[in-house]
Amino acid sequence: MAHRSWFPESLTGQRVVLRRHTPGNLGAFMRWYSDAEVARLTRYQDGPMRPEEIERFFTARALGPESLSLAVHIRESERLIGTCALSQLDSDNGSALYHITIGEKDAWGQGYGTEATRLMLDHAFGTLNLHRIALSVFSFNERAIRSYASCGFVIEGRAREAIWREGRWWDEVSMSVLKGDWEALRDGLDGSSSAGSTKRPTERPTDRPTDRPTERSAPGAGIFGRRR
Ligand SMILES: CC(C)(COP(=O)(O)OP(=O)(O)OC[C@H]1O[C@@H](n2cnc3c(N)ncnc32)[C@H](O)[C@@H]1OP(=O)(O)O)[C@@H](O)C(=O)NCCC(=O)NCCS
Repeated sequence: MAHRSWFPESLTGQRVVLRRHTPGNLGAFMRWYSDAEVARLTRYQDGPMRPEEIERFFTARALGPESLSLAVHIRESERLIGTCALSQLDSDNGSALYHITIGEKDAWGQGYGTEATRLMLDHAFGTLNLHRIALSVFSFNERAIRSYASCGFVIEGRAREAIWREGRWWDEVSMSVLKGDWEALRDGLDGSSSAGSTKRPTERPTDRPTDRPTERSAPGAGIFGRRR
């Protein structure tokens, strides 16, 4: 694999360690993404991917050069439990999209995914100097929305009734976190403030001016070798 300075070998947290994917992780992807419950939470289409789609997805998105994708391992045991990624890294605007799937269902609800997201945000804002990370999540995925909110993401919009699942319509929720949000949250988590783990998902006020120019350093300079 070509050396990519923006792409770390690993990111280490207290309970998880994120490592670059290896071709041997394909088997785990096959298991995760052929599961109906994982598909329900992560796919626009009804039902899981076919094996050949999973293989293409793995090759392009986990091993390929276009996204910063890392495997999530439990630190103590090294067990591989999921994958997370930044995609569509845009160095002109300092933004990227975020994705995470903890594929091992017995590892849901134990904080591993949330810690992986925090590590990715630290890297995105602290090392890559990105300004904004965005994602979308289905409105029925309460655990994911709560996890993202505790990492500083706020709800900034909804595609109303964009998803048909289990006989009814659901919204697709857009969330984002800005570098400043993350720094404030991190400082609160490090210090004595209560910001963070108890934070409820909030709607971003739509009348707040968001288009005023702000001072910034060069966003994401060096990502994919692009510099302004
Ligand atoms: C979504 C995901 C990344 C969350 O990571 P996680 O480590 O499992 O989440 P946590 O254990 O930190 O729980 C997050 C929050 O959800 C709550 N939660 C846990 N299980 C829940 C459930 N079944 N229903 C609702 N909330 C739940 C937790 O209490 C916690 O809330 P709090 O911060 O207010 O205490 C992970 O579960 C996952 O990958 N799930 C499958 C795929 C998926 O949904 N991906 C996201 C697609 S957008």
